[in-house]
Amino acid sequence: MSNIFGKDMLRMSDLTRSDIDRILGLASGIKHNHGAGRLSLTAKGKFVAFVFFSPSTRTEMSFKRALGALGGEGLNFSDVNPSPGQRRPVEPIRDLARVIDGYADLVVLRHPSASSAAEYAEHSSAPVVSAGTGVGHDAEHPTQALTDLFTIQSRLGRLDGLCALLLGELDQRSARSFALGLSRYDSPHLILCHPGEHGLGRDDVRLIESRGGRIDVLKDYRDALPRVDIVYHAGIDPNVEYDNSYSLTAPDVTLMRPNALILHPLPRRRKEIAFDVDNDRRAIYFEQSANGVPVRMAVLTEMLAPNE
Ligand code: CP
Repeated sequence: MSNIFGKDMLRMSDLTRSDIDRILGLASGIKHNHGAGRLSLTAKGKFVAFVFFSPSTRTEMSFKRALGALGGEGLNFSDVNPSPGQRRPVEPIRDLARVIDGYADLVVLRHPSASSAAEYAEHSSAPVVSAGTGVGHDAEHPTQALTDLFTIQSRLGRLDGLCALLLGELDQRSARSFALGLSRYDSPHLILCHPGEHGLGRDDVRLIESRGGRIDVLKDYRDALPRVDIVYHAGIDPNVEYDNSYSLTAPDVTLMRPNALILHPLPRRRKEIAFDVDNDRRAIYFEQSANGVPVRMAVLTEMLAPNE
C-alpha cells in the first residue's frame, strides 16, 4: 500500500519539509480537538503490528495510546531480552515480515540494526514506520524528531532561524534525527558539545551545511547558553566517566534566555539534567514526551491513508 510518504518512514530523509509541516499541522489539530470529541477514527478496522527487538517505554506506549484513540487495534511482537527457556527460534527477518503481512495493515518497528530494519521493510508489503532503528551514525528515530519539532513549534511558533545547542552523545538516534529534521527549516544554527568521538557524522554535517545550516563545536556548553533558543540534551552513557561535565544544572539554566527551551528525548540515564531543573518553565521534556501521542496519531493517520 502506498501513502503520502511512498510507503515506509524509516529515516528523516524520507520526509520533505512539506511532509513534516503536514504532520505537525495535523498533530496540532488533533491535540486541540481531541478533548472536544471531534476526532475521526481513522484507524477503525485497521491492525497495527508493534514489532520491537529492543525495549521502549515512550515510543511504544505513545504509539499504542495513539492507535487506541484512532479506533485501531494493535498486535504485539516483542523479542526483547527473552530468558533462555523462552527464546524464540531464530527466524529470518524477511520471513517475519511476510508472516506479519498476513495480519497487519502497518508495522511499527524498533530494531538495533538499521540494515535489518531496511531488510524488514523491503520484504513487507505493509508500510513500516521506524520506532527507533540502528545505532551510531546510521541510527534514526523520525517520530521522535517529529515530536521534538512539534513541541518547539507549539512553544515558539516557528522552526525557521533557530539556534540549538545539542549536548551529550550526539551519535544516537534521537539527536541525529532531530538535527536532520531541523535542517529542513531555514538557516538553523547548531552548536554541538559532545564527548570525543560522539559527534554528528561527517555526512550529516555536510548535508546540514548543504541545506544552509551552520554548525559550530564548543568545548564548554555554558558559553552558548545565553544565545540559544533550544538546549537539546541527548543523554550521556552512565557507564562512562568523561573528563568534561555535560550536566545541565539549575545555575546553568539561569544563563539561558527567558523563552528558551530545554528538551531531552528521555530516558534521563543519569544526572545529565539535574532534577532541580525540572520545575523551571523552560524545561519541557515531559510535555515533549506527552506530545508523542498527537504526533504519532498524525503519523498513523497519514500512513494508513491510501495515496489517491
Ligand atoms: N525517546 C525514546 O525513544 O524513548 P523510548 O526508548 O522509551 O521509546
